[in-house]
Amino acid sequence: MRPSHVTLYEVGPRDGLQAEAQIVDTNDKIALIDALSQTGLRHIEATSFVSKKWVPQMADAAEVMVGITRANGIDYPVLTPNLQGYEAARDAGATTVAIFGAASETFSQRNINCSIDESLERFRFVMDRAMSDGVKVRGYVSCVVGCPYEGRISPKAVTSVAQKMLQMGCYEISLGDTIGVATPADISRLLDQVMTLIPSERLALHCHDTYGQALANILTALDFGVSIFDASVGGLGGCPYAPGASGNVATEDVLYMLNGLGIETGVDITKLVDAAWQISDALGRPPRSKVSNAIRPPALEA
Ligand code: HMG
Ligand code: MG
Repeated sequence: MRPSHVTLYEVGPRDGLQAEAQIVDTNDKIALIDALSQTGLRHIEATSFVSKKWVPQMADAAEVMVGITRANGIDYPVLTPNLQGYEAARDAGATTVAIFGAASETFSQRNINCSIDESLERFRFVMDRAMSDGVKVRGYVSCVVGCPYEGRISPKAVTSVAQKMLQMGCYEISLGDTIGVATPADISRLLDQVMTLIPSERLALHCHDTYGQALANILTALDFGVSIFDASVGGLGGCPYAPGASGNVATEDVLYMLNGLGIETGVDITKLVDAAWQISDALGRPPRSKVSNAIRPPALEA
């Protein structure tokens, strides 16, 4: 079941930086994406075209998209919650966008100000336009195990939203443990249910690492045949509408594990660690990643 090749889908510039309290300089965001483009990563989620009143950190989305040096063969997806965001993203040159829904009604309201059903209606507008423009659409489902407002979420609720997004035309669905509460037992229960309707090739797992379970959860999903994992360089991250959620699992920590398992990714760990330190230096603190600290201890940075 375990795949021999894994796709690492980098979310640091978006999920990572969106949670930073201080506005990060646009040039630092661009430098991070450019550094990541040198690592072998093929999917680098660059920014979000969301309301700047809701997420001020992402207000420079268009400048980021225009400022980066796009490398051949690399996709730079962006988040688009509605048609307004989609149009701005397309005008800025996005060729892949992501719609983001939730399996929890309350989280949907807090995050995108509408119910799950209303969100699916909005996403249909994005999907129709994207299809006619030849733009690919990824789908996120948040709160696949736990919700900061509602507690535990049933795998059936997740499957239902994921299936609707896939039927709408999403090329893959990323299952988000938004607040990082899942354990391997939860991931097994979730995938047992979701995979009754959706094959592993169409699924990604998006782990936050609040309780330190992310690598174990990824290992569990690998044994279900899942081969796409979202991760954030340096362990940056969180969601402004998910109180208590810490960063995403660090890309370099996932890569170290995959390298040890003999699973190919095409990503260079040394370059990735350099990118983690580069953005951490810009933010004025060491990376949260164990691997980045092991390879370049902060003491050597002075
Ligand atoms: P709303 O207030 O209901 O929107 O917000 P509205 O349509 O009523 O418009 C209100 C104002 O927002 C208007 O401006 C619009 O122009 C503007 P005003 O006339 O007041 O000056 N607006 C926009 N501006 C820029 N781009 C847009 C856009 N849309 C409207 N696309 C909305 C609804 C969805 C816009 C808002 O709730 C929002 O932006 N939410 C985004 C929240 C967010 O980004 N959360 C983090 C990402 S999700 C996540 O992190 C989870 C994930 O990582 C997976 C996981 O971990 O589970 C993906
Ligand atoms: Mg996330």
